[in-house]
Amino acid sequence: MKVSIVGSGKVGVATALFLIEKKVADIVLIDIVKDWAEGNALDIIQASPIRRYDVDIKGYSDIKEVEGSDVVVITAGKPRLPGMSREDLLKDNAKIIRAVSEDIAKYAPNAIIIMVTNPLDIMAYLTLKVTGFALRRVIGMAGILDSTRFRYFIASELGISPKNVTALVLGGHGDLMVPLPRYSTVHGIPISYLLPRETTEKLIERTRKGGGEIVGYLKTGSAYWSTGSSVAEMVECIIRDRKRIIPCSAYLRGEYGIDGLFVGVPIKIGRNGVEDIIELSLNTDEKKALHTSAERVREVIERLEAENLI
Ligand code: 2OP
Repeated sequence: MKVSIVGSGKVGVATALFLIEKKVADIVLIDIVKDWAEGNALDIIQASPIRRYDVDIKGYSDIKEVEGSDVVVITAGKPRLPGMSREDLLKDNAKIIRAVSEDIAKYAPNAIIIMVTNPLDIMAYLTLKVTGFALRRVIGMAGILDSTRFRYFIASELGISPKNVTALVLGGHGDLMVPLPRYSTVHGIPISYLLPRETTEKLIERTRKGGGEIVGYLKTGSAYWSTGSSVAEMVECIIRDRKRIIPCSAYLRGEYGIDGLFVGVPIKIGRNGVEDIIELSLNTDEKKALHTSAERVREVIERLEAENLI
């Protein structure tokens, strides 16, 4: 199996590192900056005797090396800086993603694409349109990262192992994302039994701003360790055909009353990409929040269309 990562900045390299630790596929790192991906790949593979990797990793600056990939992860583009929303990256990243998507369609026509570049629900849409790939073969990474943040915050608040906590965050990957406490539990115990409502509200707000909190500390870019681990988990699900249920950004055709957009929802993820979309029953407030978040995604796509960038 072959996985290519297009864009070897911090997110790309962190993804490569978490992924090689899983030993599920050979990895190709690509970066437009000459020798950068080569150097990072060589550095990682030199740890193989200690870390016992029996898969390979190589770096290139030519995107044609994605050829024959089973999965292509796109992280290319500009990251957020303090004070920026993910949507502020729209124009710059749309141009990059269009070019990258054309190359992927040419060299890796059978790949499943995982979009990481922000604003990712919109970039996933752009890639789908440019490549003409089947809907199930383009997936945005977001819900898994947002949910893992929410899980960590719940565990930390309760002073328990994060392993016991499951949580769900739906919606677009922006400040209007929709953490769902009703579908969040500690080993099956709803968090409403364990945490006062006001505390849960605080954790929800922290989750919504989770990416921005990290940007505020790093100043020169956005989160990459939690991001890379989320991407690697998705890649493993595809390569190993795990059929796990995780929240991801998927193209909806009427599910949850949303049509023609990528929005974060629980999916079954396996060898065929998005193998199913799970429709949960949402109460009125949850539905409203999901639709508000989806409307924001639609507005940004309309901006892109108005500028002829799609
Ligand atoms: C984040 O939420 C990078 O968007 C990503 O940190």
